[in-house]
Amino acid sequence: MSTHLFTPYTLTELQLPNRVVMAPMTRNRADDDGVPVPMMATYYAQRASGGLLITEATQVSPQGRGYVNTPGIYTDRHTAGWRPVTEAVHAAGGRIFLQLWHVGRISHTRFQPDGAAPLAPSAIRADTQVFTTDGFRPASKPRAVSVPEIADIVAQFRHGAAQAKAAGFDGVEIHAANGYLIDQFLRDATNRRTDAYGGSIANRIRFALEVTTAVVQEWGPGRVGIRLSPRGTFNDIQDSDPPALFGALAEALNTFPLAYVHLVEPQPGHPALTVQSGVDPVAPVVRRRYRGTLILNGGYTRETAEAALAENGADLIAFGVPYLANPDLPERLQRQASLNPPDQATFYGGDEKGYTDYPTLAEAPVSA
Ligand SMILES: Cc1cc2nc3c(=O)[nH]c(=O)nc-3n(C[C@H](O)[C@H](O)[C@H](O)COP(=O)(O)O)c2cc1C
Repeated sequence: MSTHLFTPYTLTELQLPNRVVMAPMTRNRADDDGVPVPMMATYYAQRASGGLLITEATQVSPQGRGYVNTPGIYTDRHTAGWRPVTEAVHAAGGRIFLQLWHVGRISHTRFQPDGAAPLAPSAIRADTQVFTTDGFRPASKPRAVSVPEIADIVAQFRHGAAQAKAAGFDGVEIHAANGYLIDQFLRDATNRRTDAYGGSIANRIRFALEVTTAVVQEWGPGRVGIRLSPRGTFNDIQDSDPPALFGALAEALNTFPLAYVHLVEPQPGHPALTVQSGVDPVAPVVRRRYRGTLILNGGYTRETAEAALAENGADLIAFGVPYLANPDLPERLQRQASLNPPDQATFYGGDEKGYTDYPTLAEAPVSA
């Protein structure tokens, strides 16, 4: 059969050998200071045959942290810890973007400097649990950031982008999805501000655009992507009109123009991703209004990925859990081989088990 997944793609300045993208996945294996450890270089290099790898979410500041053992990109130790990762991926022939992250209200006072309240657009607690060193705890009530603090956070994203460049990444992805800080500004359930950053859609997308502008100043637009989850409800988030909000944002993003927009838009019945009820898929709206490269993610198989590319619904497809469990996912998809099953117990934290020990086809041949 003809394949789109294995047709090369020019992503601005990068030549991708295929259209399989590794979705960003938090694995909680950095050290207690957020410094990447050597097994992370092995993990990403094992997966280097994808067209593009996107790292796990990586906090741009101490306030941007909400989980144990997630990596950072704001100190020189972080940068030095990431360098072996980018070198290993490049030595294996791959390309890798770092995902820049600020959790906003999805945090706990015990993660925050001086035990302070987490930061958010508005002082509305998320009805969710965060995993701390003492197990799951309710997210702490956040404090609404001031306008000068917003400028500080934009500067933190910019600094993270610069540090990522120093670490040897090929580009960066701004994490504006999944109910974290930028998403909290975008949506009207979490953003009740009455200043220039709240109210109208134009005001609610302002912070995302300011972050993007700052990151683009470091990298140039062709090395910057942004991730959005228009219908997602993860981390207790929703909006009164996602198609209008994300359509307007997509249109505004045309002006940069970025390397890509990456949408989490789950296939119906996705086992892990919930969507806002009564809201139709937003990907077609974004595809219509956004003129650049579109990556889709959320429950794709080889068949549904090929179909989405054939229908021109997307240019690239990102795979999460299948890539986590299959270091040679592109080859397996191309050969229509079976996939290793994922081990949920080792997703978040631990050692090499369930991280770098998933076998390739060559190591554990299965019938194609
Ligand atoms: C273990 C795990 C960690 C994840 N961490 C992140 C993350 O750091 N950043 C992000 O944007 N999405 C994260 N996600 C969401 C995935 O990128 C992806 O959207 C989701 O797994 C759906 O794609 P899939 O059906 O191909 O797995 C994570 C998902 C999993 C399973």
